[in-house]
Amino acid sequence: MTERNLVLLGPPGAGKGTQAERLVADFDLPYYSTGIILREAVEQGSELGKQAKDYMDRGDLVPDDVICKVIAERLDSGEADDGFLLDGFPRTVGQAEMLDGALDARDRSLTAALLIEAPDEEVVRRLSGRRTCVKNQHVYHVELDPPKNEGVCDQDGSRLVQRDDDRPETVRKRLSVYHDQTAPLIDWYGEKALLRRFDGTRTPEEVHSRIRATLATLALEAEI
Ligand code: AP5
Repeated sequence: MTERNLVLLGPPGAGKGTQAERLVADFDLPYYSTGIILREAVEQGSELGKQAKDYMDRGDLVPDDVICKVIAERLDSGEADDGFLLDGFPRTVGQAEMLDGALDARDRSLTAALLIEAPDEEVVRRLSGRRTCVKNQHVYHVELDPPKNEGVCDQDGSRLVQRDDDRPETVRKRLSVYHDQTAPLIDWYGEKALLRRFDGTRTPEEVHSRIRATLATLALEAEI
């Protein structure tokens, strides 16, 4: 079977993590969310966490060299040799160039950049109600996608909390950073014919089935 080398793109709160959980279950892909990796590093107080914390608290991006090293290590580890799902990386043209170069050097290429789109006001509504579990960062929303028991993760029973960077002023900053530094990747991947767009205002189930249909078409095209 051909490799699935996938990138999830989109503004904060568009539903990248929500769809990633489903796609990982579908395809059993190694999953690298740079947001999750960085939050775990902050929690553990590691060198990476110390380098990243202030940027994350402000809603800024951590520097490209710091985050590119994290992804290069994952690609070098061998565990992503048959495919991967990247969530939240790349987020700048510099990061996208690094990923391109790293794949090129391994005689590999990206299958698709899956862009989940949602307007700013929807993002603010979603992030103000988002809760994540402390154990595995599974994602819920107090109104839109509530857990069966309030404050408790359905999947691992751990406590649900609000992320530090989901405060309204930090969300606004993250959105402006997205428009300035990450949105240029839409044209960048569009020009390479790798971009696939999804309407993130549909239900999580609808978004998921559309992504699956697109991936099925791409897999068929790759076999022709
Ligand atoms: P990161 O964790 O990647 O945050 P983000 O991109 O801002 O994305 P989010 O996790 O906020 O949103 P999401 O799209 O995954 O939405 P979700 O599925 O949770 O990054 C955090 C920080 O780390 C950055 O600010 C930066 O500092 C740093 N960082 C990370 N990567 C970096 C990089 N490459 N370079 C530099 N710095 C980096 O859904 C949101 C809510 O909506 C949930 O409550 C969910 O239940 C609900 N929801 C989801 N889908 C739907 C739907 N279809 N309908 C209704 N509700 C929905």
